[in-house]
Amino acid sequence: GALNSPLVLIGEGPGLEEDKMGHPFVGKAGQLLTTILNKLEIQRERVYITNIIKCRPPNNRTPLKKEILACSQNLQLELSIIQPKVIIALGAVPLNYFKPDSSIVRTRGQWINSREYWIMPTFHPAYILRQQGQTLNKIKWAVWQDFNKAINKAKEMCPEYKFYV
Ligand code: URA
Repeated sequence: GALNSPLVLIGEGPGLEEDKMGHPFVGKAGQLLTTILNKLEIQRERVYITNIIKCRPPNNRTPLKKEILACSQNLQLELSIIQPKVIIALGAVPLNYFKPDSSIVRTRGQWINSREYWIMPTFHPAYILRQQGQTLNKIKWAVWQDFNKAINKAKEMCPEYKFYV
C-alpha cells in the first residue's frame, strides 16, 4: 500500500489466498474490503493494508499470543515508517493487539486513543460475509458508520492527502 497514507487498515492474518499470493486481503474478504473502500471513494492502493501476523496459522486458527508477539516487530516497523494518523482495526485480533481483552461487539465504533494513533475497531469483512438477513443489514450499517468515522478523521487530519487519484 501507500507508505505515506494517513490511514492504515489492519486485519488478522493471511488466509489461504493471501498466503499463496503473498499479499493481504486478496481473497473473498479482501474483495469485500476493496468494495467498501471504493464505495467510500477510497482507492485501495492509496491506503496501507496489513495484518497482525504475516503467516497463515495451521487450519486458519486464531493466532496465538506468542505468534502475535513474534510478528509485532514487523507491524511496529510498518507503523513507524508510515506513521498513520488513523488505524482501522478489522476484527477482534487487531482490536486486542491495541486494547487487550476487549470485545469487538462492545468496542466497535468507539475510538481507542493510543498516544500515537486514532484507532477505530470494526467488524472483520469475513464476519460480514458470514451474516444473513436482518443481522447482515445491522452489521453492514455498523461497518459503514465505522469506516466513515475513520475516513473523516483521516481527511480532517490530512486534508491534502488524496485517497483517490
Ligand atoms: N483476513 C485477514 O485478516 N487478513 C487477510 O489478509 C485476509 C483475510
